[in-house]
Amino acid sequence: ARLEKIAIVGSGSWGTALARVAALNAAEREGFDPEVRIWVREHEIPGRGKLTEIFNRTHRNERYLPDVDLPENLVAVPSLKETVRGATLILIVVPHQYLPGILEELKEPGLISSGARAISAIKGVEVVIQKGAPQGTARIYTYPSVIEKELGIPCTALGGANIALDVGRGEFCETTIGVLSAKDAALWHAVFDGPTFRVHPIEDVAGVSLSGALKNVVALAAGFVDGMGLGGNNKAAILRIGLLEMSTFTLEFFPGSSPLTFSHHSAGVADLITTSFGGRNRKCAEAFIKSKPEYSGVKPEQRGKTFEQLEKELLNGQKLQGTLTSREVFEFLEARGRLEGYPLFEKVYRISFEEMDPKRLFEDL
Ligand code: NAD
Ligand code: 13P
Repeated sequence: ARLEKIAIVGSGSWGTALARVAALNAAEREGFDPEVRIWVREHEIPGRGKLTEIFNRTHRNERYLPDVDLPENLVAVPSLKETVRGATLILIVVPHQYLPGILEELKEPGLISSGARAISAIKGVEVVIQKGAPQGTARIYTYPSVIEKELGIPCTALGGANIALDVGRGEFCETTIGVLSAKDAALWHAVFDGPTFRVHPIEDVAGVSLSGALKNVVALAAGFVDGMGLGGNNKAAILRIGLLEMSTFTLEFFPGSSPLTFSHHSAGVADLITTSFGGRNRKCAEAFIKSKPEYSGVKPEQRGKTFEQLEKELLNGQKLQGTLTSREVFEFLEARGRLEGYPLFEKVYRISFEEMDPKRLFEDL
């Protein structure tokens, strides 16, 4: 029988942590080729050499997930095309802004095996707004649907309360996969499920994708609350209202999806909680507020820091997704004339990009 061969496209902190889970399973389970390939963009570490060579020698990703031991059957490959050649199961896990360029390369005729399947662990959405087009023509797409269309293979969604480093350390957690066929649910369950990484399949692909994207916007609001020095009641209120806007948005624009994804599943409420306490979006949003003159004590004529600056200063090459998503969702809602339905999403954008006073976060909620 054919062996399933796994390829991982993306080797940031989440790509590396998920690759570890998949490679441990592939080495142990029947039906899988034990060699799992991961695409690692080449990068020179000063005084140490090339990232891929260090990765394959030390079995660690020094740049994005340091201190986590990786299995020896996980092999770093610097070429994107060579990573996926011959693969039957392809995990796509890159910061969403880089996906278009990656899909362009993967579209080469004959590169992806016929019968291959994909799974997206990207937290983001694609918004398409044509300049000058009439109001109401803005479109929004989930990444599994973009991947299916561009690569011509079925694509599942994976998302949950999964801070990469905690998963890398093997701490118990859960994740949700949004998948339509029972066969694919069983296949992806076999790739990722284990005693410390429990995988729950549900049928709501759009709900899993949208929740992962939108919770990053709410996590920025949670960081604003922390930056302003406010307490737990306030943060809980912001998370409740944020969760409601996340599910209302999803049901409004993806009518087949389910409110239970948000209330019952790891991809919903649990991911919102973990990101709003331990994630990068929260961390940078807190620092964004604390850099403002009224919160930092610097001279009033000095301006606060931008998110671009903070991403560079605080994340060591990792990428913020919530600020981009906040802009994309704001522009989509504005183009559709629906901003008034989503006051929290609107405020997060205006505080992040239009110098709105963060205390105004609570107006109209
Ligand atoms: P990351 O932010 O840790 O790392 C950045 C990645 O982007 C690296 O692999 C880097 O090589 C790549 N990159 C940088 N510049 C690039 C370019 N010009 N072209 C192509 N790639 C480039 O990445 P991550 O945390 O693994 O995030 C991937 C996705 O997973 C995101 O959508 C994120 O929201 C999601 N996610 C992350 C976590 C987490 O805890 N880190 C958890 C769940 C989901
Ligand atoms: P951050 O990108 O805010 O770190 O969130 C990670 C995440 O998606 C946890 O599930």
